[in-house]
Amino acid sequence: MANRKLIAGNWKMNGSLAALAEIDAIGAAAAANPAVDVAICPPFTLIAPAAGRGVAIGSQDCHAAAKGAHTGCVSATLLIEAGATYAIVGHSERRQDQHETDAEVRAKAEAAITGGLIAIVCVGETEAERDAGNAVSVVEGQLTGSVPPAGTAATLVVAYEPVWAIGTGRTPSVADVADMHAAIRAKLVALLGAEGPGVRILYGGSMNPKNAAELLAVPDVDGGLVGGASLTAAQFVPIIEAGA
Ligand code: G3H
Repeated sequence: MANRKLIAGNWKMNGSLAALAEIDAIGAAAAANPAVDVAICPPFTLIAPAAGRGVAIGSQDCHAAAKGAHTGCVSATLLIEAGATYAIVGHSERRQDQHETDAEVRAKAEAAITGGLIAIVCVGETEAERDAGNAVSVVEGQLTGSVPPAGTAATLVVAYEPVWAIGTGRTPSVADVADMHAAIRAKLVALLGAEGPGVRILYGGSMNPKNAAELLAVPDVDGGLVGGASLTAAQFVPIIEAGA
């Protein structure tokens, strides 16, 4: 049986209080499309004001510690108090800019889940890794290192985001997406046993209103993690509708 789709938007370091009007419009679309789960992950400062507007809210990171002397960091408990239900961890921009390792990503995912959040663990190969024929093995290695062993279908989501497709307007072929998602599914079953089939696998990387239906129809694509096209309701709502 197909998993219920999740269409999640990652606003990255974009948005503002004025952009909450977009959240309201996205919330209305979520209510109108109850067959699909919808989430927006804005910057930390917008989590509280974005919560309660009809769409689930997530963070873009979650510290591995529950509390303490970690200046500038935010814990799962604080995120939940602010109104979050999801936490993205291990996005390629953080793996690159903050040098996050698989082990750190797994610790963050474990903290998010222990704290009561649904962890969205991101994986994906670079263009050089794909060109070298190593895309699947790279992603399998990231999954082995980043997926918390206690993850379940209810608490864990995996997002496959080829680094070279993020913000570039380029996407893998449907066949390549299908091959990768099948490999991720097999790895999740190997790692998590009976929970593996129910863990949702999102595709991310230049998803937009024009290509969403085709990508979301691929087997084992259980939704999307959308960057640029999630910033406005005009772009994001058609993707929600494509997933419904
Ligand atoms: O988290 C979202 C991804 O990085 C995709 O971003 O849709 O702007 O390519 P994009």
